[in-house]
Amino acid sequence: MSTQAHQTVHISLEDRSYSILVGDALFDSAATYAGLPKGSTALVVSNTTVAPMYAQRLQAALRGHYRAVLSLELPDGESFKHWQTLNLIFDALLANHCDRKTVLFALGGGVVGDMTGFAAASYMRGVPFVQVPTTLLAQVDSSVGGKTGINHPLGKNMVGAFYQPQLVVCDLGVLKSLPAREVSAGLAEVIKYGPIADMEFLSWIESNIQRLVALDTDALAHAVKRSCELKAWVVGQDERESGLRAILNFGHTFGHAIEAGLGYGEWLHGEAVGCGMVMAAELSRRLGLVDEAFVNRLKRLIVAAGLPVKGPTLDAGDNPGRYLELMRLDKKSDAGEIRFVLIDGPGRAVVRAAPDAVVREVIDACCS
Ligand code: NAD
Ligand code: GLY
Repeated sequence: MSTQAHQTVHISLEDRSYSILVGDALFDSAATYAGLPKGSTALVVSNTTVAPMYAQRLQAALRGHYRAVLSLELPDGESFKHWQTLNLIFDALLANHCDRKTVLFALGGGVVGDMTGFAAASYMRGVPFVQVPTTLLAQVDSSVGGKTGINHPLGKNMVGAFYQPQLVVCDLGVLKSLPAREVSAGLAEVIKYGPIADMEFLSWIESNIQRLVALDTDALAHAVKRSCELKAWVVGQDERESGLRAILNFGHTFGHAIEAGLGYGEWLHGEAVGCGMVMAAELSRRLGLVDEAFVNRLKRLIVAAGLPVKGPTLDAGDNPGRYLELMRLDKKSDAGEIRFVLIDGPGRAVVRAAPDAVVREVIDACCS
């Protein structure tokens, strides 16, 4: 374990349990990885943006632990989260004769993490992997909980596996190089935890939003730790999303429609989720579950985080129709019926269907 000060969140999943480390100067310290089983080979998977900044430092930290430390740079971007890019990981593993004890290290944001995790789930039917998330979004959400996968042209994250990492290393220092837009995108997934599970955390975020936007280390440490605790609490009860875990998709049903409708990468995932939360809150209000003050409170926070609150027009002819068409592809849909994560009281979420007519009104009211 690292000698640097850090906090640990445990995720309890029987033999798939693991730790999430949160702190500064962690990812490039050999001590961070000392508890992992020894293996002959490590493959650091990163991308063309993150690798030049951080890959060599991670490789150096791993050298005492593995006989060979290989690295691979994937193209950067949501638009590359597909089969062809995934195959580059299998190419590298096979070309280097990597065996079943090879450990994959995902060094990057959610795109690298989701693809590396899926490669680890399927290479030789499963090899270990470690998440070293380098975006705020990945630290508070995507690196934790074992959802891995890729996009399909017809739907986001439609091909993948539940596969847990052995360790998650959230180094707050690497967030300093994030562009402001990516910080805002990550804050969407931080804010998400408030309305669905912890109103006290929502109030804390409201009071500290400027510190978070400015990447204040103490504020980030609390936000990342609390987000991971809340995610661990949910995933610990429902690893494979047979029920409760769906609440983590608050804002995602509208958000995924925005991402797919505009083309992946046009809006950042966190931007789409931020706007999607406003739309889901407005739908909750129109169904009589929360009041207008709650929707406005959430909207103010999303604006303060630097995120959009007006959805894009996806079809000039029938915009609500296009949203509905895309949302029917959502993984939560049941026999073509869209199931939304709604807020049915501050700090409480429910997953249920809504009449198309009301959803259409929400889309008309919330899109520019
Ligand atoms: P991303 O992985 O595309 O990263 C955003 C951008 O920041 C990229 O250009 C990346 O190269 C760059 N970057 C990463 N770290 C950096 C750093 N430290 N300094 C400078 N630049 C850096 O996007 P993301 O927001 O991290 O993740 C979004 C993805 O995560 C989506 O594909 C989404 O579906 C997925 N996701 C998965 C889960 C899950 O549970 N598995 C949850 C939420 C989101
Ligand atoms: N990001 C949603 C989930 O992990 O379930």
